[in-house]
Amino acid sequence: MKFFVDTAEIDAIAELNDTGMVDGVTTNPSLILKSGRDILEVTKEICDLVDGPVSAEVVATDADDMIAEGRKLATIADNIAVKLPLTWDGLKACKVLSGEGNMVNVTLCFSGNQALLAAKAGATFISPFIGRLDDMSIDGLDLIEDIRTIYDNYGFETQILAASIRSVNHVQDCAKIGADVMTAPPDVIKKLAGHPLTDKGLEQFLKDAAKADIKIV
Ligand code: G3P
Repeated sequence: MKFFVDTAEIDAIAELNDTGMVDGVTTNPSLILKSGRDILEVTKEICDLVDGPVSAEVVATDADDMIAEGRKLATIADNIAVKLPLTWDGLKACKVLSGEGNMVNVTLCFSGNQALLAAKAGATFISPFIGRLDDMSIDGLDLIEDIRTIYDNYGFETQILAASIRSVNHVQDCAKIGADVMTAPPDVIKKLAGHPLTDKGLEQFLKDAAKADIKIV
């Protein structure tokens, strides 16, 4: 499973990038707002830092303007994935922009039917939002399972990019279901390596290493 970082904070991306775990980055207008940066400038910096796909979202709502914005975003770098909302206009723009050879991430997906439409429109990625369904007492993981089944039934190559991930359990469950990609905030990704038994075991090993006077280099 590929790991994307869901943030527009350059320092957080750089820190995680050093672990070798960053396969891409996703942003959206709310994350751009939080960063306090200009979208074109910060997106360029992210693209320079990370080799994999960097999703940058349009703000237009009609297809022609989305296509114009998508084309401009795509000039930032070769690794831009144009992010479009799952509306009929977004799907029309997806068809055009993917047909021109751009990576497209169709976002704000909340049903299997929406995911089916995005795949038919040629999306590179579909972004189902798990956490926002959970917020409504609807199991977001069921949606990931539904999309996996639908895409496998027909051999769609659109990658399932599990988004709105709020916990380490979401990450593990998405991996078990077979999501192709997950995008999570930096703090969730950092927690993935943590386990109290790892900390406890290491503490004991280090105490014993000191007693045994172990020196390796
Ligand atoms: O990738 C989508 C993500 O940014 C939305 O997450 O937590 O705002 O639902 P959240």
